[in-house]
Amino acid sequence: MLRMALSLFLLCFLWIVKAEETSVLHLQFSKVLDHHHGSVRLRWGVDHDKEIIVFELQVKTTGWIGFGLSPDGELEESDIVIGGVHPDKSIYFSDRHMEDEWPPEEDENQNYELLSLTQNETTTTMVFRRALRTCDPNDQDITNDTMRVISLYGLDDSLTYEEEHKFMKSIFLLQIIPLTETPSTYFTYEIKLNNFLIPVTDTTYACTFIPMPSVSEKHHIFLYDPLLDPNSADMIHHILVYACGNNTNVTSEVGECYGSDPTFTQCSQVIFGWAVGGSAFHLPKDVGIPLGTSLDPYYVRLEIHFSNFDAKEGVHDSSGMTIFYTPQLREHDAGIIQFGVFTFPMHFIPPGAENFKSYGLCKTDKFHEVNGWPVENMKVVAYLLHSHLTARGIKVIHYRNGTQIGILAQDDKYDFRLQESRHHRYTMDLNVGDEVVVECTASTMDRDSVTFGGPSTLNEMCLAFLFLYPRNNISTCWSYTDLPYVTDILGQEHTTDIMEAVMNLNYVEWDNETIRLAEKASKEAVQTVIVQNRRGTRSTQPGLIPDFNPPMPHQCDNTSFVLSDGSSPEKTEVDSPMDANDS
Ligand SMILES: *[C@@H]1O[C@H](CO)[C@@H](O)[C@H](O)[C@H]1NC(C)=O
Ligand SMILES: *[C@@H]1O[C@H](CO)[C@@H](O)[C@H](O)[C@H]1NC(C)=O
Ligand SMILES: *[C@@H]1O[C@H](CO)[C@@H](O)[C@H](O)[C@H]1NC(C)=O
Ligand SMILES: *[C@@H]1O[C@H](CO)[C@@H](O)[C@H](O)[C@H]1NC(C)=O
Ligand SMILES: *[C@@H]1O[C@H](CO)[C@@H](O)[C@H](O)[C@H]1NC(C)=O
Ligand SMILES: *[C@@H]1O[C@H](CO)[C@@H](O)[C@H](O)[C@H]1NC(C)=O
Ligand SMILES: *[C@@H]1O[C@H](CO)[C@@H](O)[C@H](O)[C@H]1NC(C)=O
Ligand SMILES: *[C@@H]1O[C@H](CO)[C@@H](O)[C@H](O)[C@H]1NC(C)=O
Repeated sequence: MLRMALSLFLLCFLWIVKAEETSVLHLQFSKVLDHHHGSVRLRWGVDHDKEIIVFELQVKTTGWIGFGLSPDGELEESDIVIGGVHPDKSIYFSDRHMEDEWPPEEDENQNYELLSLTQNETTTTMVFRRALRTCDPNDQDITNDTMRVISLYGLDDSLTYEEEHKFMKSIFLLQIIPLTETPSTYFTYEIKLNNFLIPVTDTTYACTFIPMPSVSEKHHIFLYDPLLDPNSADMIHHILVYACGNNTNVTSEVGECYGSDPTFTQCSQVIFGWAVGGSAFHLPKDVGIPLGTSLDPYYVRLEIHFSNFDAKEGVHDSSGMTIFYTPQLREHDAGIIQFGVFTFPMHFIPPGAENFKSYGLCKTDKFHEVNGWPVENMKVVAYLLHSHLTARGIKVIHYRNGTQIGILAQDDKYDFRLQESRHHRYTMDLNVGDEVVVECTASTMDRDSVTFGGPSTLNEMCLAFLFLYPRNNISTCWSYTDLPYVTDILGQEHTTDIMEAVMNLNYVEWDNETIRLAEKASKEAVQTVIVQNRRGTRSTQPGLIPDFNPPMPHQCDNTSFVLSDGSSPEKTEVDSPMDANDS
């Protein structure tokens, strides 16, 4: 009797623990995984302290449903969890992994824990959780990178694979939502194109100048919301908004941003960035982007990148963004500084490279001089990494006084289709005098000629935009390598002319040997570091790319929160003094 009561009590206790954990972990995020049909929806929530993630997968089927994490977007080697409800209402659920052939094999260690599995006439809903890192080689770690999420289902409970019921989507799962606040008084303003006819060419960068709202006193922008024209939303690759200086020669016409008309190359400081897959960008509640002071732009340059690979004719666009601004000022004024590799024309990536690294250096000791006034140390609140089709990873590495002190932003599984502003959990200090290196890793296995830096998606860029406060007048801090040094090492005819060196890269016989030589030479050569302010004034100085020491990989000590078999939360094991004494 006592035993029964005790186990009943234990059961209740466990149930309460679980209920509590799931309620704390409310499912904040939501994405449709099969965007054409809307039959598969994922909701999830993250506990960053406990390193646990909870998922709810909901599929319009009464058959089996599955969720997976893939190393590269393919089904092979994916970490998969499958569940369903039999017609007799009994349930099945298992942590599996995909080897060469369907169906995926069950893992020896079951690291996904089922919280609920329900079904009605149309829909199956499965709620489950796991540790971000399970230390099981058959599971994928859930990291601060863009994850490749797989979803799949069947029409009945036999685990039959159907290609048309499998989907892959790049998702940044470990999102941070800052504490935001909607002020009691605010205004909105649209910065957008006006019925622009999208040209029938693969790539168009449409640019125009748009006045900012005129306000007689200082306001703070607290939210940028993308404004996508439903006519053309699927042709828009990115939207960038740049602040213009007073002396900008503005026009109301729309022109090609990187064409022959220099008018549209004016204004270099990004203030808003959105790209495919991104969403609205909220500033934390104590931070705002100033509007209406003498330092703020009267005009911005709106840049919209359209891809018209299907050569559609007669499509008009009125996209842009909506800004939300308030007279209720916040504590900090934020700004954005661009770091990375000087784009044109010195940035190059050889063909046939599996993972070619490019480096851009920023030395902030010139910030005072270029700012025109002493610059205060900064706090970084968010970042946006920007690169094109060949990009596989981007890191923003932080050095102080010659020592690597951290990473300001990183995505080792970059997907150019998902460029978005991402918040940091805690602000990061960036002091004047620090150095910042942006490292981009590219794969050009499918290309047979050199890829150069440039504005088209077929060219490359390697940039990181850091959102920080307090703001200053600096817009850009980047570098290019000594290309003549690189072509010398590659055995090309000696030249001191940069454009000639750029041309000579086309004559190199690219193989794995010359690729490694080029990467090494570009990294060890002297960099020309350029710091530029919003008025376009710049200063240059030489610099060297410091070494990068990758942080220690996560240690699997088997005491981490491994959710085993679902029956108990393993709390005692984690705290067990015997385990602690083991080391
Ligand atoms: C089945 O469940 C789904 C998800 O909760 C719900 O949207 C749908 O309306 C339900 N259908 C019926 C027939 O109850
Ligand atoms: C993600 O990044 C944060 C710092 O922003 C770090 O504290 C955390 O451990 C990282 N999580 C994982 C799973 O790598
Ligand atoms: C300003 O732009 C117009 C055309 O857009 C051009 O004709 C004019 O020369 C420009 N003025 C300056 C000072 O650049
Ligand atoms: C722009 O011009 C206004 C008045 O013409 C002036 O007050 C302001 O300081 C100027 N801003 C910058 C950034 O030069
Ligand atoms: C930087 O390093 C030098 C020696 O390498 C040392 O003298 C100096 O105090 C350091 N500065 C800071 C701010 O840590
Ligand atoms: C920007 O530069 C101007 C001088 O050109 C200076 O008055 C102003 O204080 C600077 N802004 C910041 C935020 O340092
Ligand atoms: C470099 O080596 C990889 C295998 O590691 C190979 O697949 C690739 O074709 C090589 N690239 C070139 C340009 O030879
Ligand atoms: C952790 O446990 C797994 C299985 O329980 C085992 O295969 C692995 O070797 C262990 N790892 C360490 C570092 O002890």
